[in-house]
Amino acid sequence: KDLVPLKTAYQNDFLIGNAISAEDLEGVRLELLGMHHNVATAGNAMKPDGLQPTKGNFTFTAADAMVDKVRAEGMQMHGHVLVWHQQSPAWMNTTTDAQGNSAPLSREEALVNLRTHIQTVMEHFGNKVISWDVVNEAMNDNPGNPADWQGSLRQAPWKTAIGADYVEQAFLAAREVLDRHPEWDIKLYYNDYNEDNQNKAQAIYNMVKALNDKYALTHPGKKLIDGVGMQAHYNVNTNPENVRLSLEKFISLGVEVSITELDIQAGSNYQLSEKLANAQGYLYAQLMQIFKDHADHIARVTFWGLDDGTSWRSSSNPLLFDKNLQAKSAYYGVINPA
Ligand code: XIL
Repeated sequence: KDLVPLKTAYQNDFLIGNAISAEDLEGVRLELLGMHHNVATAGNAMKPDGLQPTKGNFTFTAADAMVDKVRAEGMQMHGHVLVWHQQSPAWMNTTTDAQGNSAPLSREEALVNLRTHIQTVMEHFGNKVISWDVVNEAMNDNPGNPADWQGSLRQAPWKTAIGADYVEQAFLAAREVLDRHPEWDIKLYYNDYNEDNQNKAQAIYNMVKALNDKYALTHPGKKLIDGVGMQAHYNVNTNPENVRLSLEKFISLGVEVSITELDIQAGSNYQLSEKLANAQGYLYAQLMQIFKDHADHIARVTFWGLDDGTSWRSSSNPLLFDKNLQAKSAYYGVINPA
């Protein structure tokens, strides 16, 4: 209707995205999506359990329909996600012994599964995506010693089977695909949450720096990791100054940054007081101002869902539109950065 489209408000700054499911690609939801956004992320459809539920059985039909529809509607697509400790089938890195206990696969077997998944999926979607979250959420929530970034990695099943270098191995496998297709323009991202925590931001910084520095020794002037994704799952008590510090830390790596899953919890039990609604709107405004101030280094700002009714954190009202798709203070905060 008469609302300023988000993508118009930020057309000189960065892409504006949203997380989608198939239901968002029809009717009024598609209207709202297309009016405000120029890029989409599959909320679930491109996760490992969706694309390769059993070994060698790649199931692309649903994701293909989504990607093709998004592109037909004039939006771009971001790829989420190749390597993660959730929504990933156990067979990729874990086996069951004769007693029925689960045990990690050997490093060699797990590496084959890691590389095969990454490379098959990337070759399949090809240049239809602008970027991939190659590795998601590898770091512990609040690393005690960020200088020891390997020791700060969460004990994900991939890490148990392969070792701390699974992150590097994943990016090397993804980079090989791009090297085979120099005509593709795709950015490889490391993506994580709690990234406003300065210990965690520092551990991520140290990891990306170490992996990119090592890669540059054999590939002068080239990067292994192109971008850092800040999920930005915040709440009304998040301190925007910490977001700024983390953003500037990641930018100082010389990589691009994207805000990949932005939402701000406010209230609970599906209740949102006017006071909290305004606090939420103000925090959105403060964050968008910080992002605008660094727009030269930010490729994309993606919200994690269209409306409070379908949000993954629905009971805490985190998005710009309410369950009736009406604009909240949060929308006006995003449109009026402060
Ligand atoms: C969430 C989806 O939104 C939910 O529908 C699903 O049940 C769980 O995953 N970090 C991520 C996203 O990288 O993939 C997650 O998405 C939210 C947290």
